[in-house]
Amino acid sequence: MQKACAKLLTPDDTLVLVGDHSWGKNLEACEPDMAFIMGLPGRKILLRGNHDMFWDAKKTAALNERYAGKLNFLQNNYYAYGDYALVGTKGFTFEGPFYLDRRGRVVGWDEKNEAHAKEIVDRELARLRASFEAARADGRRKYIMFLHYPPTSILEDESCFTRIAEGYRAEQVVYAHSHGETRFHDSLLGEKNGVEYRLVSGDFLKWTPAKIL
Ligand SMILES: [Fe+2]
Repeated sequence: MQKACAKLLTPDDTLVLVGDHSWGKNLEACEPDMAFIMGLPGRKILLRGNHDMFWDAKKTAALNERYAGKLNFLQNNYYAYGDYALVGTKGFTFEGPFYLDRRGRVVGWDEKNEAHAKEIVDRELARLRASFEAARADGRRKYIMFLHYPPTSILEDESCFTRIAEGYRAEQVVYAHSHGETRFHDSLLGEKNGVEYRLVSGDFLKWTPAKIL
């Protein structure tokens, strides 16, 4: 990844990293990973992933202060790129457990987990809306939307995340979290209802940054 970034990026580029930056349990333990990211070329924008224990969503402003001029943390805010607003949040996708029949078809799932997932989705949706609205309040009308989790679960063709993308007419939804070939098609890929869906997990991209704009 370091080599690919050095080859493809210039200091004028913007690199959005959509989460799971470090396994560290707190910021001190994450410092080597933060230093690695800071060493990549260009302006770095980070989104929260499910493993990012160092990042308390309510303390994003403190992270932005601590790494001012070096790293940018996307949460309840947005970043401008030309005419575009880069908006986003971690998102959430219900991941089961699912119960399968002998032919591998989903015949049920853990309903308690599903109820809990709905609560997390509602919270993430509010954060995403805050990001869109911060951009809109500044007169921004063109959006690229970033999520860590895929926008839909394996049970869904659409979700509140796809609907908000369509509602704000986001041009692209960029997400990760799905690793390994068996997971690459868990969610949407390509164009749907005017929105382009892109998976950018590291192994899917073979650790080479994808050009979004
Ligand atoms: Fe993840």
